[in-house]
Amino acid sequence: MAETKPVDRPLSPHLQIYKPMLTMMMSIVHRATGMALYAGMILLVWWLCAAAASDDAFATAQWIFSSWLGLLVLLGFTWALIHHALGGLRYLYWDTGRGFELSRVELMAKANLAGSIILTILVWIIAYMVHA
Ligand code: HEM
Repeated sequence: MAETKPVDRPLSPHLQIYKPMLTMMMSIVHRATGMALYAGMILLVWWLCAAAASDDAFATAQWIFSSWLGLLVLLGFTWALIHHALGGLRYLYWDTGRGFELSRVELMAKANLAGSIILTILVWIIAYMVHA
């Protein structure tokens, strides 16, 4: 039987070797927010079902969503949705074959992050103004 010699093939660098960069983190966050949106959508459907079911069911859902924990979850959901949607627009722009210069990639990542925070705050201010 022929002997197999170990071959020194180049190894793929492990994730820990990479220096974390904004663009890399944004890519991970895009996937994470996408997954968080699944959970958020389940809550949205539950809220709609409660509204359709009965006054009691809706009152319970409203009570849960207006608790501090519920509000925190809703705040996170708003941010995840906006962050993910802005990220989606970034991908759409790339799909046109533009925006691949390093400086533009960095700028769009920062705009995505800052935009998601600013828009989340705006949405909540408007929601509170409408609610008051
Ligand atoms: C509740 C609604 C949504 C859910 C549950 C969701 C979920 C996800 C998930 C889990 C991923 C990651 C897929 C992967 O990396 O394998 C993803 C990717 C993506 N999402 Fe969403 N998403 C939602 C809304 C949106 C919206 C509104 C946009 C655009 C405005 C969008 C644009 C994208 C794009 C472009 C990707 C692919 C990014 C890539 O190529 O890596 N999504 N989505």
